[in-house]
Amino acid sequence: MNFRDSEFALGLLMEAGFRRAESIEDADIILFNTCSVRQHAEDRASANIWNLAKLKKQRPGLLIGVIGCMAQAKKTKIFEDIPLVDFTCGPDNETELPRLIKGLLKDRANIAVLNNIGKPRKEAFPSYRDNDIKAFVSISHGCSNFCSYCIVPYVRGGERPRNLKDIMREVKDLGARGFKEITLLGQNVNSYKGNGERGTGYGFAKLLEDINKVKGDFRIRFMTSHPKDASPALFKAMRDLPKVCEHLHLPMQSGSDRVLKLMNRGYKTKVYLRLVESYRKFLPQGCLTTDIIVGFPSESDKDFRDTLRMMEGIGFDAGFMFKYSPRPFTKAESFKDDIPEEVKTGRNLALLEAQGRISKKKNGLLIGTSQEVLLEGVIPSKMKGMSGRTRTNKTALVECEEDLSGRFVNVKIEAATCHTLRGRVV
Ligand code: 5AD
Ligand code: SF4
Repeated sequence: MNFRDSEFALGLLMEAGFRRAESIEDADIILFNTCSVRQHAEDRASANIWNLAKLKKQRPGLLIGVIGCMAQAKKTKIFEDIPLVDFTCGPDNETELPRLIKGLLKDRANIAVLNNIGKPRKEAFPSYRDNDIKAFVSISHGCSNFCSYCIVPYVRGGERPRNLKDIMREVKDLGARGFKEITLLGQNVNSYKGNGERGTGYGFAKLLEDINKVKGDFRIRFMTSHPKDASPALFKAMRDLPKVCEHLHLPMQSGSDRVLKLMNRGYKTKVYLRLVESYRKFLPQGCLTTDIIVGFPSESDKDFRDTLRMMEGIGFDAGFMFKYSPRPFTKAESFKDDIPEEVKTGRNLALLEAQGRISKKKNGLLIGTSQEVLLEGVIPSKMKGMSGRTRTNKTALVECEEDLSGRFVNVKIEAATCHTLRGRVV
């Protein structure tokens, strides 16, 4: 999402006459696009900004801006926390960036452009793309789910679908321009219902169907799906539509019904398990990945064991495992963050260890099979080869002599680790 927002900001600025600098040293303006989902993300962004202290001292004219969720979350407090920052602009105010920066180039001041969240977003079209093989297309902005731990609804506003016509126009353009992969983006991507342009009943599965019909040799991916909006209709569409890849990222978050309720996730473990069963019935070879949070307030050893057991029982292809991080504005911020850091770390490591084992086993099952890989880039190492992704979104390192970036090739898998597959073109 932030990658796309950065492209969007760059596109707007380039349209307004700015140029992209080759390096930090060359830049007159430096923009940090930030994430607030966990404290760790904010700490990293702050550390990166502080790293510019010397440069800013040498060149006081340098403008440093913070955009994205941290801008919205911290508001003008960012100028107190990191005095190097000249301006800040929330995720839904990006269209104002060119005007804001032009003004600052004339008159220096600390300026914050914020609080526009919740209004329909304007998306420039056509806009800048940072990659000519893979493209991201936002289909909705914000989220209205209010999971109790999550800052997103507060910094990105409620869920607003993008206009269906605009989405289709953008996808058609990408197809015509030869992009090989289009990833549909939304905080809750599979809840898409359009703006009622096609009458009631239009849903995400139908959107996939419409995009699948668009001319072009491209794959379709989407993220992130919420279990409450996943259904057999979606899995059927994934099975039947040739462009749609066989990969579902379905955050489980916890394997304890008690914790899921406190998280306000809106489903029970039984429902999640039923979805997994249905997904696998439709797509037996499909890839399933997840997000899990450990150390949520009051998570007991038993709650954690239930999570571990459920995750092992399902056997995800991969998972992102997070330690709970209290976030401002959220409901869970008022709960006591009572799980000691070392317990969070222990639980996190246990999940990572189990997932590593499962991923290795799952990837090992692919040895000897042939997989369609979209080659993306040359591997900067001794191995003569390229890296790419299978339809199931697994990283594949492929032996080949020439640069075949942007090509679909069939690869015979010869080796596998928990993170990557290796093979050669057949
Ligand atoms: N602490 C830890 N992890 C979080 N996530 C979201 N908010 C928090 C938080 N406060 C995780 C969820 C989500 C992923 C993108 O980040 O697992 O699915
Ligand atoms: Fe956050 Fe929940 Fe929305 Fe995902 S679905 S962005 S976790 S509130």
